[in-house]
Amino acid sequence: MKKHILIGITGSIAAFKIAQLVSDLVKLDYHVDVIMTKNATQFIAPMTFETLTKHKVYVDTFEREETFDVKHISLAKQADVVLVAPASANVIAKMAHGLADDMLTSTLLACTCPILVAPAMNVHMYENPVTQRNITLLKELKIQIIEPTTGRLACGDQGNGKLAPLPDLLQAIEIALSDKPLLGKKVLISAGPTIESIDPVRFISNHSSGKMGYHLAQQAKAMGADVTLVSGPVSLEAPYGVHIIDVTSALDMFEAIKKQAPQQDIIIKAAAVGDYRPTIYTTEKIKKKGETLSIECTQNPDILAYLGEHKKDHQILCGFAMETENLLEHATQKLKDKHCDLLIANNLFEEGAGFLKDTNVVTIIKKDSYQKLPMLSKKELSRSILYEIIALMEEKNVSCH
Ligand code: CTP
Repeated sequence: MKKHILIGITGSIAAFKIAQLVSDLVKLDYHVDVIMTKNATQFIAPMTFETLTKHKVYVDTFEREETFDVKHISLAKQADVVLVAPASANVIAKMAHGLADDMLTSTLLACTCPILVAPAMNVHMYENPVTQRNITLLKELKIQIIEPTTGRLACGDQGNGKLAPLPDLLQAIEIALSDKPLLGKKVLISAGPTIESIDPVRFISNHSSGKMGYHLAQQAKAMGADVTLVSGPVSLEAPYGVHIIDVTSALDMFEAIKKQAPQQDIIIKAAAVGDYRPTIYTTEKIKKKGETLSIECTQNPDILAYLGEHKKDHQILCGFAMETENLLEHATQKLKDKHCDLLIANNLFEEGAGFLKDTNVVTIIKKDSYQKLPMLSKKELSRSILYEIIALMEEKNVSCH
């Protein structure tokens, strides 16, 4: 059955952005209902949302309909999650004090599902102690605030009060809807390539996009984990609610991971770590001379092998292996050498696999078994890997929710 998402839109210029969010949610096959305040209809027409959702948009509590259910109660009952976005200072104040003087606030008061609120307003209205106190009240009531960002606001002022980015709103909804089998667990994930500088202009790196690691972080967060992502340089948006540590070289990554590892329950090494770095970093640009150029390199520490050697009894360690030949043989050897609990092996040359793609074809290798999965999106694959890890934790008798 489709999950029901209720979107409450209030009077803020950012209301127009919600059309894109609603369209994205419908494409993801959610049932979306929209309630607008009267002021919101000054910024964007209800018909936009009726066209996108194929459902009536509600504004007026007392509007007569053919059906005889009490709409603000039935919408509240059907909702699996509610997002109020953009949330004006006015609606935040009403929610904080239990006012129910229109369709949206009456429905919100009747909701028993998780409620998310994404404020958007002028910086001074947002920073006003009254608004801040109301936001604190909402947090105390376990209503989740999706914090606004800083930037140029529609009124021309610069500051905090911009609606959070749409991907954050979408991810917050998906997190609220997900089961939470990893609640209370700490998960460390590494992602992306490393960059090993040769001189101020050049570097050695690889084609890793970081997509696999970022999807894993996003899904682990959705499953309730407390997620830290150690990321090499990538051009991806940070997943919502994940603690990111940006690194550049393999040595940086090693230092960051060494610090984080002891506190973790699960460690997933999806990063494509450079095996070598130039032995000498040349501080001035290397000038062109001669027909050939040789750069002597030194081996980087193997971070996964270090983690395997220092693994605690309760920890699950998951590595990746990128191969171009003899996948099973090479990957099984890596699993053993690096003391991993499981290893996700993929062949770069296989159709649907590879760095820049949104899909992957992998074989999950464990100590005494392996399983080849069909081609999956990196999002679906992330969930499969995390469920494999949960099964291993249960085998080890480490409790999961
Ligand atoms: N890895 C690591 N530190 C390194 C090299 C690799 O932590 N210096 C990790 C990767 O993050 C991955 C796993 O080891 O989880 C396997 O990486 P891969 O590049 O497939 O293998 P290598 O061990 O580097 O061996 P080879 O390059 O010879 O295939």
